[in-house]
Amino acid sequence: MSHIIHRNLRRAPPVAARAAGLTVYDNHGRAYLDASGGAAVSSLGHGHPDVLAAMHAQIDRCAYAHTAFFTCDAAEELADRLANDAPGDLDHVYLVSGGSEAMETALKLARQYWLEAGQPQRATFIARRQSYHGNTLGALAVGGNEWRRAPFAPLLIDVPRIDPCYEYRGRADGQTTDDYTAALLRQLEDTILRTGPRNVIGFVAETVVGATAGAVPPTPGYFRGVRRLCDQYGLLLILDEVMCGMGRCGTLYAFEQEGVLPDLVVLGKGLGAGYQPIGAVLARAHIVGRLRDGSGAFQHGHTYMGHPVAAAAALAVQKVIQRDTFAEHRTSATCAAAACWSASNWCATASASSRSRRRAGCTRPSRRKPWRAA
Ligand SMILES: Cc1ncc(COP(=O)(O)O)c(C=O)c1O
Repeated sequence: MSHIIHRNLRRAPPVAARAAGLTVYDNHGRAYLDASGGAAVSSLGHGHPDVLAAMHAQIDRCAYAHTAFFTCDAAEELADRLANDAPGDLDHVYLVSGGSEAMETALKLARQYWLEAGQPQRATFIARRQSYHGNTLGALAVGGNEWRRAPFAPLLIDVPRIDPCYEYRGRADGQTTDDYTAALLRQLEDTILRTGPRNVIGFVAETVVGATAGAVPPTPGYFRGVRRLCDQYGLLLILDEVMCGMGRCGTLYAFEQEGVLPDLVVLGKGLGAGYQPIGAVLARAHIVGRLRDGSGAFQHGHTYMGHPVAAAAALAVQKVIQRDTFAEHRTSATCAAAACWSASNWCATASASSRSRRRAGCTRPSRRKPWRAA
């Protein structure tokens, strides 16, 4: 009997004995095609030599040093790279150990931002139904996955929730896409007004919805309208790109295709592609600036944040994504979202929707400052 509390308490899963490329092998030698890369994680496949080499080198140099006392080159270089590759002034990076931890970090950073702005009454997030932002209590509270929330509902903060932007299910017969989008934005505005704009910290959404709806992109103009309302009423825009970011939708960040600049971006999964547990929050300059000029510290922290080996793995993953995916497919008819190991060579697989590919024009958009800070 296993002593692990497995996801299914009545049945232990097969033992993953080794993995290479797209295949995981169990301890009886049976091969499993890891077509989804786990839960949309292993976007480079298993055993990428560049990532393994970077991890080995980092382990030999320094496997761990607490961030209260030290920084490390791998974390600094990863943060430089993420900041450089992100549009606008998304220049600040907080490294944690996964998507839920990153979401908790974003929620707390947003709250502290308003505290330090002298607006302590801002204590409410607005989010969407049929969304998923993680399984820790804060992330679960903003999420709209009812099945996951139900047992823990009494422990969760109240979050006003609006409809998802889910055209296939939500647009009425005879309604145009633009009218559907406008109705969703009216709903958001009504919710902001009902809650009281000066009570709201921010609006939280997945740019492209993953776990709770499949793979649902927004309608054209939806996020531009959301950004407009956030600016009008002074809300922060927090985009969760744990599943859809890091190249998965054809651009490094899915929001690049929406022409908006969020205040905070939440990353996980494809950031480290499964080689190490890592997540991150990207924050715009005004967010970090306010804390720096105020209390001087973000009141948060985890033992394993900024972990050297996790950072080294993620840095190597980012280099491979840029080199083998974006570079190769800049002008190709298939904007690749992920690179995978095929039997003898690395190849790119297209997983961006045809709409996002069309809208991306299958060219890599300019990464640096394409939009003015909203
Ligand atoms: C959009 C989104 N946000 C957050 C999370 C939580 O990430 P993690 O499972 O790494 O805590 C997930 C996980 O599936 C996700 O899809």
